[in-house]
Amino acid sequence: MSETQKREAARAALDEVRPGMRLGLGTGSTARHFVELLAEKVAAGLECLCVPTSEATAEQARGLDIPLTDLDSIDHLDLTVDGADEIGPGLALIKGAGGALLREKIVADASTRMVVIADGSKLVDTLGRFPLPIEVNRFGLGATRRAIARIMEAHGAEGGLALRRRAAGEPFVTDGGHLILDASFGRISSPEAVSRALLDIPGVVQHGLFLAVCKRAYVAGADGVKTVDP
Ligand code: 5RP
Repeated sequence: MSETQKREAARAALDEVRPGMRLGLGTGSTARHFVELLAEKVAAGLECLCVPTSEATAEQARGLDIPLTDLDSIDHLDLTVDGADEIGPGLALIKGAGGALLREKIVADASTRMVVIADGSKLVDTLGRFPLPIEVNRFGLGATRRAIARIMEAHGAEGGLALRRRAAGEPFVTDGGHLILDASFGRISSPEAVSRALLDIPGVVQHGLFLAVCKRAYVAGADGVKTVDP
């Protein structure tokens, strides 16, 4: 997607922001545009208080003088705006390409409303073409990996399970100090069942299926931005 389209999706979501709101700030290249646009509003006098979903977003927001807080200091958020890797039927999502899925899910859950900003290529009929990120504890990685592989097999996964690595080859470590396994399902016919099964594995910290979380998607394309509701 072009940066222009990402920015237009972000700008559309900015219309939901009202003075005094407590906002969750997503992670990723599209969310970065939202943070930049929000910063312009803050500089022009908008009052808001924000919780970032990653250290990267926190750093960006701090650099732009956006007031930050955390979920220990406030009891809820009004609105969270985040990106997505896949947007399926009913606005079921796959998230986590940026490795921020745990904080993203905690922040989304603490929000009255969560919306995503994306381009049309993220819309799918069935989730799963994009490898599902699964955040796992470092301890017992082998056991966790085997348990996830069994679930993938039970759900007809077409691909494998890969430990996410950085370009230099070392394992990717999340802001929470965990690892990420990317599970290539190909298609996920029963997202709720896969979600439950994964969360039953002790070493799984969280996964990137966001089900019944997202209330609206702002999807940018060549013809402008359209809204998609569940
Ligand atoms: C990070 C995420 C991102 O929101 C998702 O990967 C979308 O990123 P981008 O806007 O760069 O395509 O889930 O963990």
